[in-house]
Amino acid sequence: MTVTIVGSQLGDEGKGRVVDLYSDEADVVVRYQGGDNAGHTVCHDGEEYKLSLVPSGAIRGKVGVLGNGCVINPRTLFDELEMLRDRGLDPDVRVAQRAHVIMPFHRVLDGIEEDVKSEDDQEVGTTGRGIGPTYEDKAGRRGVRIGDLLDPDVLRERLEYIAPQKRAVVEEVYGLDPDALEEYPDAFDVDALFEEFREYGRRIEREDMAVNAGAYLSDAREAGKRLMLEGAQGTIIDIDHGNYPFVTSSNPTAGGATVGTGLSPGVIGGGEVIGIVKAYLTRVGSGPLPTELGGVPGDTPGYDGDPENPRTESEELATEIREAGDEYGTVTGRPRRVGWLDMPMLRHAARASGFTGLAVNHVDTLAGLDELEVAKAYELDGERLETMPPTTERWADCEPVFRTFDGWKEQDWEAIAEDGYDALPAEARAYLEYVSDDLDIPIYAIGVGPSREDTIVCERPY
Ligand code: IMP
Repeated sequence: MTVTIVGSQLGDEGKGRVVDLYSDEADVVVRYQGGDNAGHTVCHDGEEYKLSLVPSGAIRGKVGVLGNGCVINPRTLFDELEMLRDRGLDPDVRVAQRAHVIMPFHRVLDGIEEDVKSEDDQEVGTTGRGIGPTYEDKAGRRGVRIGDLLDPDVLRERLEYIAPQKRAVVEEVYGLDPDALEEYPDAFDVDALFEEFREYGRRIEREDMAVNAGAYLSDAREAGKRLMLEGAQGTIIDIDHGNYPFVTSSNPTAGGATVGTGLSPGVIGGGEVIGIVKAYLTRVGSGPLPTELGGVPGDTPGYDGDPENPRTESEELATEIREAGDEYGTVTGRPRRVGWLDMPMLRHAARASGFTGLAVNHVDTLAGLDELEVAKAYELDGERLETMPPTTERWADCEPVFRTFDGWKEQDWEAIAEDGYDALPAEARAYLEYVSDDLDIPIYAIGVGPSREDTIVCERPY
């Protein structure tokens, strides 16, 4: 049986804690897309672990698999594995031979392209990890895959094709000197790249990490193992279903779980697909956010923090939520933009992935507010919309139609997590039931604090 975990908003919904909660009963935890752009914090035995690539289940002694839909930076992979080993863990992580490798030049190009776009305020606000450029080369049929690291002849052949091409782009398209990049001095040097990445290949072989992901996972499933498929990022930054171009370059939606692992759509669809919802919204980077409160200068379009700007008025509330929810990027440390819950967005996400259950996080973060707003619909050109329009520009024009809810007071959340759903304040239950009823999807879990113990568990999917 499979359980797939999908972010329903803009990433950072708290997927890691839900994976962590249910992975106790899983045998294998798989990531199916993205790379080391996916910051996740996992609390285990009173310790906090910050990871960006290794599947969080690996902390709990599960087999962690990075599927073929992932892009893997071996530097990050081995750094994270070493960090976990230094802290006394023994992670078992496998990597798909079909997964693509993030090379140093991909990170360089990510940075350059963002700089160029920023001249016209067009930057995406990427994590700078080289994610987009690596997927570009995958689609361009010139990428380097994990399997290539295992074969020196193939690796050299691939590098000899791609590295000079990237060098030429930097020199001729961007007019920069590729040899003057302080952070990545050998990023375009075929011999240096070969040496470093061939060594990763040897290491992957020595540690028996390389797998044929689809076959490995199918065999595990047929042998009765329970699989958990862990999406990174979220629906609204999905390259197909998100607000293009302010998206990541992969598919966090449930379809990505099938192409990114080699398990069939029937297998994924026949299992559970849990949509992870934050009780409000956050966004890292640029792009519209119709329910945004206040703004983060540099990220919120057209906002520079000017006290005269009407946005500034609601910044106090945004700051309160940001501080209460510790809304700063795990990978980048950047302050996250904050907004009210958006039902048209959730309807879109539920349809795209076919959620069978919901996990709603950060219910405790909203405690203490007198009132809460939820966008129940949008208004666009005098018409009411129940879901997101397909273009980002039209989405930016949407005016939220709010419904107001009574707030709830601070509580002893630990006690509530122990006592269960009925112990929640009535106002919080009204809020949650509205979301569940509107989407017609049951709530499986409710997060009321940072660690997995701070969770009201209504349903166990396995
Ligand atoms: P990239 O994935 O680094 O290419 O960044 C593309 C967009 O996705 C940017 O707006 C990032 O801020 C956003 N993004 C990427 N990874 C995450 C994540 O794990 N959480 C939230 N946003 C993310």
